[in-house]
Amino acid sequence: TISKVYARVVYDSRGNPTVEVVISTEKGKFSAIVPSGAHHNSHECLDLRDNDPKKWNGRGVSQAVQNVNEIIAPALIKANLDVTDQESIDEFLIDLDGTPTKEKLGANAILAVSLAVAKAGAGKKGSPLYKHIADLAKLHEYPFLIPTPFFNVLNGGIHSGSGLTFQEFMVVPYGAPSFFEAVRYATEIFHTLRTLTIEKYGSSSANLGDEGGIAPNVENARQALDLIVSAIKGAGYEGQVGIAIDASASDFYKEGKYDLNFKNEELSNAIDYLTSDQLAELYWDLINKYPIVSLEDPFSEDDWEAWTKYYPKFQSKVQIVADAITSTTPEIIEQGIEKKIANVLLLKLNQIGTLTEAIDAAKLAYDAGWAVQVSHRSGETEDTTIADLAVGLRTAQIKSGAPARSERFAKYNQIIRIEDDLEKYAVYAGKNFHDSNKS
Ligand code: PGA
Ligand code: ZN
Repeated sequence: TISKVYARVVYDSRGNPTVEVVISTEKGKFSAIVPSGAHHNSHECLDLRDNDPKKWNGRGVSQAVQNVNEIIAPALIKANLDVTDQESIDEFLIDLDGTPTKEKLGANAILAVSLAVAKAGAGKKGSPLYKHIADLAKLHEYPFLIPTPFFNVLNGGIHSGSGLTFQEFMVVPYGAPSFFEAVRYATEIFHTLRTLTIEKYGSSSANLGDEGGIAPNVENARQALDLIVSAIKGAGYEGQVGIAIDASASDFYKEGKYDLNFKNEELSNAIDYLTSDQLAELYWDLINKYPIVSLEDPFSEDDWEAWTKYYPKFQSKVQIVADAITSTTPEIIEQGIEKKIANVLLLKLNQIGTLTEAIDAAKLAYDAGWAVQVSHRSGETEDTTIADLAVGLRTAQIKSGAPARSERFAKYNQIIRIEDDLEKYAVYAGKNFHDSNKS
């Protein structure tokens, strides 16, 4: 039973405050910290901020912390629910908030409690967290499926100060024999990429973006992709490592078109905005020219027409990942499935706000034949829950940023531990990252 629920303010990788919750039970103390993205659309659950300009530039979470300590804590202790009964506890939290986007108590407050409860539940059972999550999801367990990692080696979009439009350029070591080896490939590629980029674009081009990848001042996606292809070849992994792009196209959608110069006021000109057909043509060229295996948010969350028009064509060559357009929100995922917009759901815990709802969202996607990719946020912490989530839910894919920087590596390191502990009871998803969850 829960004897204490306590929240405090700690900090994320961008130096912004965030919520940590500690739950005390007879087994000890269990804590969780929530992340925060650079995007917040109207569908996703509310990341409650104080908006007091005098403190933390308005990013304070004092209210969310207070909501845990003064509202959730006494109510949850009084309810006397079992920490292994995640579903009842999450339902209790959802009811206590009572709003569809968790705006009364804050999704950051609620998620921190939900995840700390999950860890307490695993602690009570004496199970690793991934196994507890697999139990909760009622999914097949042994052998566990170790996800193929998507490493964001080159950052653009709103995560970097460069002019590069697309947000993320990831390497996917699907040809490695294990997760451990996949990480080795990625670190070698990342160091090669850094050296090549400095040679070509000067030392300041190795500056870093929000997710720990380099943020060179390249002009366009082709230049970024050429560098990455050279790095993959240079490190000796051609044919074993694919490339994934998250365009995050909602960020450059203007007046029904796409402004590739959205970060450069001098170059930005309405005459040059691309129609969705022109943007699709650009993607199609890139997909055919480079070893791209995955494309996320190719179009805006408000441009459903383009998503439905181009999914059938694109999916013959790459998987299409829905992030901003679905926002881990069941009603929208259902529409996306019906309208055939994509075949992968990007799963972000803090877009939905409880572990149970995240599990349900993943199962909704699986039932429709979609794959699921677990994702970090651009503002991250040392919390590693998403590593266990990806293994427990058998998602077969995860993205947690660059193969560098500890808030990114904390998750990869946790998967290294899980794979190592499981020994022969672990199977690396590898090239089957898109389908192996179905087995
Ligand atoms: P965010 O970006 O965490 O800054 O919202 C991540 C993504 O777009 O996948
Ligand atoms: Zn995204």
